[in-house]
Amino acid sequence: MGLLYEKILRPAFFRMEPETAHDRGKTALMALSAVPPLCSLMARYNRESARPFELFGLEFPNRVGLAAGMDKDGEFPRAAAALGFGHVEVGTVTATAQPGNPRPRLFRFPEEGALINRMGFNNKGVDAMATRLAKHFPRGKRLIPVGVNIGKSKATALDKAVQDYITCFRRLAGQADYFTINVSSPNTQGLRELQTKAYLAELLSSLRSENVKLAKKLGHREHPMLLKIAPDLTFAEIDLVLELLLENKFSGIVATNTTTERPEGFPRDEKGGLSGLPLHRRSRGIINYIHKATEGKLPIIGVGGIDSPESAGASIDAGASLVQIYTSWVYRGPFHAAKLARSLKAREEVWI
Ligand SMILES: Cc1cc2nc3c(=O)[nH]c(=O)nc-3n(C[C@H](O)[C@H](O)[C@H](O)COP(=O)(O)O)c2cc1C
Repeated sequence: MGLLYEKILRPAFFRMEPETAHDRGKTALMALSAVPPLCSLMARYNRESARPFELFGLEFPNRVGLAAGMDKDGEFPRAAAALGFGHVEVGTVTATAQPGNPRPRLFRFPEEGALINRMGFNNKGVDAMATRLAKHFPRGKRLIPVGVNIGKSKATALDKAVQDYITCFRRLAGQADYFTINVSSPNTQGLRELQTKAYLAELLSSLRSENVKLAKKLGHREHPMLLKIAPDLTFAEIDLVLELLLENKFSGIVATNTTTERPEGFPRDEKGGLSGLPLHRRSRGIINYIHKATEGKLPIIGVGGIDSPESAGASIDAGASLVQIYTSWVYRGPFHAAKLARSLKAREEVWI
């Protein structure tokens, strides 16, 4: 199947401008999502060849998830389940709809197995996402957990950002199996400053108290809440983030987002975040650092340049409980997640 994609479908897709290809792919995934019995059948088939994993009180059919940014509006989580993903992180979604940056804003680097993007949180807003998920993939009746990745609107000043995140949290709490707080995209001006103590302390404590308040009011458990960080932080900056996460009883961390760094000899630059193979070493190093610094007490979702059974295994060995992919799905095709999930199962069976 992978070969079929690489020989026939990928060349056809790659003749198109990258975002046009993305939109066509999305249309196909939405079409698959519109046939629930077929998706359930495919998801059940994939479930049998993978190993389930429990985390945050949720059951994941396998350890491989779709990273944020691919399904920005929660339009095809059912298709992702059918294609073998064990979870999907939808978003980044913002309080109000916004168009994102002008095109072109997505660039391929096939030789390097990389992408650069400066999308800028193009999305249809929280109301649209909440309505769509409730109608088409409601919480409690899902094939796989859905995490919702939330961010700040471009128009919102940094010192008003907390309110944006709270609006997103409240509006989507009924539909999110877990939340990821995104303070690490390089394409919304100033967003990464939210990773500094001055902003992060208030953001995390406000979200935590909102989470506790809502759980009490509705009589259910708190939502698992994670923070997604940039790979460009220093270890000292990561220490500070970890301290605040533990202090505010966050459930985990997503490491990492795209990088603004470029490896030496990278062929051509474009402004934005680099993802894919060149990111893997750095992101795995950060996973390893977090795992050691927290003595394994803070669950990690590892993301960044995972493209093979070996790199998925390496991120898990470094300390990740779950992994996510984006760029390798573009390069390796729709069945790549199922392949990785199967390989991780086989690897765990060797351990046992
Ligand atoms: C086109 C594109 C859009 C992305 N959009 C988002 C986003 O909206 N929110 C987010 O948290 N991460 C976003 N990401 C980052 C991915 O979720 C992931 O962290 C990163 O690409 C590294 O993983 P990868 O090397 O497997 O692609 C985006 C990545 C790409 C390539």
